Amino acid sequence: MNDDTLVQDTEKFVKGKLSGEGTGHDWWHVVRIVNIARKIHSREGGNWLVIHLTLLLHDVGDGKVIGQDEDDYSIAQNFLENQNISLETINEIMSIIKTMSYSKSFDNPEKNDSIEFKIVQDADRLDAIGAIGVARAFTYGGSRSRPLYDPDYNSREFKSSEDFKKTRTEGSTVHHFYDKLLLLKDKLNTKTAKEIAIQRDEFMQLFLKEFLDEWNGLK
Ligand code: ADP
Ligand code: NI
Repeated sequence: MNDDTLVQDTEKFVKGKLSGEGTGHDWWHVVRIVNIARKIHSREGGNWLVIHLTLLLHDVGDGKVIGQDEDDYSIAQNFLENQNISLETINEIMSIIKTMSYSKSFDNPEKNDSIEFKIVQDADRLDAIGAIGVARAFTYGGSRSRPLYDPDYNSREFKSSEDFKKTRTEGSTVHHFYDKLLLLKDKLNTKTAKEIAIQRDEFMQLFLKEFLDEWNGLK
């Protein structure tokens, strides 16, 4: 099978799994991160097929997407095992999917330092910030019936993945910016992604200032 057919089959599989997904991890999230990764890859290099397949498949078994507490990696793994791909490539892809998530980084601070991992993680994180990041955060909050903001809740430091996961239900969407989204620009891997993040981060800060000024009746 050539690479084009493999990518098309993977796209079809992922579309089927993510179309209509309601927490901000839908098919268009995948389209956006593939586009931004293409740009990062053109400057930073790496194996594009591995990057592309990993991005396509990274969310199909995410606990939030499948409505479970834990992620299910067998969905991507089984798909890949049924394609004509080497075991080495499958392992490379699955290793990135299993270690890229922000919430997991609390328990497992060790990073995979391949360029493919770095680009995939950066692309996914860039889609969590900026104007799209604002839209996705409130989409997620709405899907969980969380309030936009709750001034009585205080952000705190997180020591474990389990602890961080509690923010899926406690707090408010505005707190998610302080708990995670505003920290992402300093947690990117590649120079290209760090450059892209500057304007996106400034936009989020401006949005939060406006939001809180309006909330407090100052505007
Ligand atoms: P990761 O794959 O790095 O663990 P997630 O899948 O948890 O990241 O989050 C992806 C995006 O989903 C976030 O950047 C945010 O937009 C939204 N999201 C996830 N958790 C929350 C939350 N608790 N409150 C608001 N938005 C959230
Ligand atoms: Ni994602």
